[in-house]
Amino acid sequence: MKTIQLFAFLILSTSFITSCSEESDYTPINASSILNLPEAPYNYTDINIPNHLSNNVLMGMGQNAAIDNDNTPTTNPTTNEGATLGRVLFYDKNLSTNGTIACASCHIQAEGFSDSRVLSIGFDIASTRRHSMSLINARWYARGRFFWDERAATLEEQVLEPFQDPVEMGMTLAEVVTNVQNQEFYPQLFTNAFGTEEITSDKISKALSQFIRSIVSVSSKYDTGRATVNIPNTNFANFTPSENNGKSLFFRPKAAGGLSCIGCHSTEAFINPSAGATNNGLDLVSTDDLGVFEAIANPQFLGAFKVPSLKNIELTAPYMHDGRFATLQEVVEHYNSGVQDHPNLSNSLKDPNGMPQRLNLTDQQITDVVNFLKTLTDTDITADPKFSDPF
Ligand code: HEC
Ligand code: HEC
Repeated sequence: MKTIQLFAFLILSTSFITSCSEESDYTPINASSILNLPEAPYNYTDINIPNHLSNNVLMGMGQNAAIDNDNTPTTNPTTNEGATLGRVLFYDKNLSTNGTIACASCHIQAEGFSDSRVLSIGFDIASTRRHSMSLINARWYARGRFFWDERAATLEEQVLEPFQDPVEMGMTLAEVVTNVQNQEFYPQLFTNAFGTEEITSDKISKALSQFIRSIVSVSSKYDTGRATVNIPNTNFANFTPSENNGKSLFFRPKAAGGLSCIGCHSTEAFINPSAGATNNGLDLVSTDDLGVFEAIANPQFLGAFKVPSLKNIELTAPYMHDGRFATLQEVVEHYNSGVQDHPNLSNSLKDPNGMPQRLNLTDQQITDVVNFLKTLTDTDITADPKFSDPF
């Protein structure tokens, strides 16, 4: 009985396969049968940059227009086809040694391209050394250096590191190229992006960088309110009183009763594009993570870390290079009462006597700053299909 059933199944399935392969003679292998890609590529290049990112009204050192900090190299301008290829590579688990991890495993769209785990998990279930970083606004970082310790000199250099990291993806670049070559949809995507089918690690790096540079935030509640006023200090009509008060605390200098957060989370991309890494007093002494000092052996940078963009910060918890703070309340409480007298503590977090600042904020003021930080959430980034998983 069983044999007969199996036999019948074989006949049926053989005829099924035959009829399919006959049909496929007429249907060229189509990337979209495996990949969910639009017929024409999404628009990654023609971004409607608001006035407050193209014109600077902020005063003080390190303030300029976000677009003046564009780190796109002339050798790798973003194209819609290049970013499309980058998107596919970003979500491709076959580019890790056991097929379990993609870039997107630790840079999750719904979590602001960061990871809600304190430490991320690599292909072999080992933990990364540091907390994952958001990829939003990477393009507006004039220094162009990447990682918490800024050890990668360019984004093009950075994006090849995770493949080769023994914890993250565990590959050699040659293996990455082979695994890309072995998937039938890539030659067409490379041709669309770069004009030929040839697959190299250089082109993989370029495409991934284009995709990441396309992730810029222009449509948070902050951006909507900001578009209706001339300077950020004016109250926004779309903000609650608490959000407006938090905004005022964030922007105003300490001398004027504010908290000077904008001094380091600078420009209206809320990133520190030129001054770069600094020490924000998390620890009295640096022990197991020496920050930028590990990349450049200059004692001034011992315990200094890159200042990430605050766009979508609500979604990228936990916070800091080691993910030590679970909530934004804890972060603001750190600046309020927890700043440590590290030898390299930034002067902007000291009081006039050179001691770590104590801001004496009320609970309401802490809530206000947190509420302001939440206006930087840009759900266009977390919802836009052009940044989503194409597999
Ligand atoms: C297993 C988790 C994991 C995977 C997989 C992973 N990353 Fe990361 N990523 C991290 C962590 C952790 C950091 C911070 C590491 C550090 O600073 O030492 C980071 C940092 C970055 C940064 C630096 C951001 C900045 O502002 O400096 C970029 C860009 C980035 N990753 C892109 C990628 C790309 C592209 C891939 C895939 C090729 C990838 N990541 C794969 C965990 C991961
Ligand atoms: C002296 C420069 C400086 C000032 C002033 C400053 N910050 Fe920071 N901020 C940093 C640095 C550096 C980091 C990353 C530190 C690390 O992870 O080791 C950071 C991290 C953060 C983070 C977490 C980012 C993430 O992705 O994990 C938040 C939120 C934040 N700051 C908010 C604020 C607020 C609010 C203020 C004002 C009360 C402020 N900062 C003032 C330098 C500064």
